[in-house]
Formats: sequence, C-alpha cells, structure tokens
Amino acid sequence: MDKQLSHITLIGIEAALAAGELLRQGFGGTFSVSSKSGVHNLVTEYDHRAEEQIIAFLRSEFPASEFLAEESGGETSSSEALQWIIDPLDGTVNFAHGIPIFSVSIAARQGGETVSGVVYQPITHELFVAQRGGGAFLNGNPIRVSSTSELKNGILATGFPYNLAENPGDCIEHFTDILKQGLPIRRLGSAAIDLCYVASGRFDGFFEISLAPWDCAAGILLIEEAGGKVSRWNETPLDIFSYDSVLATNGRLHGALSKVLRQR
Ligand code: IPD
Ligand code: CA
Ligand code: CA
Repeated sequence: MDKQLSHITLIGIEAALAAGELLRQGFGGTFSVSSKSGVHNLVTEYDHRAEEQIIAFLRSEFPASEFLAEESGGETSSSEALQWIIDPLDGTVNFAHGIPIFSVSIAARQGGETVSGVVYQPITHELFVAQRGGGAFLNGNPIRVSSTSELKNGILATGFPYNLAENPGDCIEHFTDILKQGLPIRRLGSAAIDLCYVASGRFDGFFEISLAPWDCAAGILLIEEAGGKVSRWNETPLDIFSYDSVLATNGRLHGALSKVLRQR
C-alpha cells in the first residue's frame, strides 16, 4: 500500500497512530471528564491532549495547513489551502465509560474535496486508510463494501445525536421503523468506525442525523473508495459541513434503505 500513498496520507497516518497510542495509554485509567452541551456530551482530557498532539504534528509537517477540529474549532475552508478535519477521539462516551470502541479520525481536504481519510481504532489496532482515486485499505489490505443485495439480509448501524431528546429529523421513529422490519442493527458509538465498517463490508448500511464534519469526512472517503455510496437520507448529495442526514451503504441497498428512511 505505502508505495502509492501520498505524503499527505502518510503524515495523516502517522498523526492518527500516535494519537491512538496516547488514547490506548489513557484508556481505563484515571482522567478528567466534563460535560459540553448536555449531561451526556462528554469531553475528557484525552480528547484535548490527542487533538493538541495531532495539530502540532500536522502543523510541523505542513505549516500552511488550516484546521477544523472538534475541540478547538476552526473554519470551513474556502481557499485552496490544505485543510485537516480532525476528530481526536470519536466515541468519547465509550472511552469515558471504559468501553473499548473509539477511534481517531483525520481527513485531509484540498480544492473542496477530501483527498485522504484515516481512521484508527487503537484497541483493535485497526488502521483504515483511503486516498482519493487510490482505494481503501485496512491495515494495508484493500477493502470493499459488502455484496448484500437485499435489505432483509443486511446488518445495519446507526447513531444518535446528543440532542436526541429533541428527536431531530424524527430519528427515533426512523430507528423504530428499521427495528420493525426485524433487521439487525448496531449502535457502536463511533460514527467514524461505523462508516469504516461499511467500507470493509462488516455492515451493509449506516444512517445518522446531524453528524459533524469531523465525524464523517474520513469515513465517507473510505466508503467511496471501497465501492459504496454516501448521500443524505433522501439520496441527494451530502455536504459534509451541513450537519444533515447521512446514509452510507454498500450501494446495492442504498435505494431500499433510503425508502425506509423517507417513509415519514
Ligand atoms: C459521536 C459518535 C457517535 C455519534 C455521535 C457523535 P464523539 O462523536 O460518533 O457515534 O452517534 O453523533 O457525536 O462525541 O464521540 O466524538
Ligand atoms: Ca465524533
Ligand atoms: Ca470527538
């Protein structure tokens, strides 16, 4: 894999692996936890430490970079500058509760498109990498989406925003609509991992509302490079900066899953 990867992708990988090492060391230990908006929207000292480390490293390698990162913010870039979109710890609630499902997600964008995506799951040592036009990989091996062609045979994943009690986009009803079909559905607690599991064929489809750009930028490129499809729930194009609905599938189930999500 390495021979075809750009310098940008390789640096993104290095940043994600190093942050993953930091999170692995902190996981299960004692650390400070506080709430952001709402009691369940947590942030730990490791979210901040990982983000600071990632940005310092990327800035040292690409000094002219711009950044959009969950904890320190940033702007949606309109320039041609290289922009990094970073979720230093996707799955903070899991991390804070000692549940070993979380990831580091780093995307690089240039000219209005994501050119590299890296998601690292430190506890399983799984590194998902995609480069635009260059394919998608898990620990160096090419990955493809599943070939499941009927929704009734699929396994799905979803997630919920922190303002779930407000039921944005009727997400609770959409979830129960899927449950009523009797389909197996998982809620792992890290959208970046959910997307990578679609890219690698573990899940056939994933949907969520109100994802932030740092939750989905890298994972979306993984899915596209692995042969899958990503859109809004109604199949129209997704703007990753819009906090809109996200539907990600192996492609074959896209229409069928969209239909279920549109039936309200
Ligand atoms: C959250 C996770 C979760 C998803 C939420 C996200 P965080 O990110 O990705 O799976 O359902 O919408 O906000 O807060 O752990 O970085
Ligand atoms: Ca996140
Ligand atoms: Ca986060």
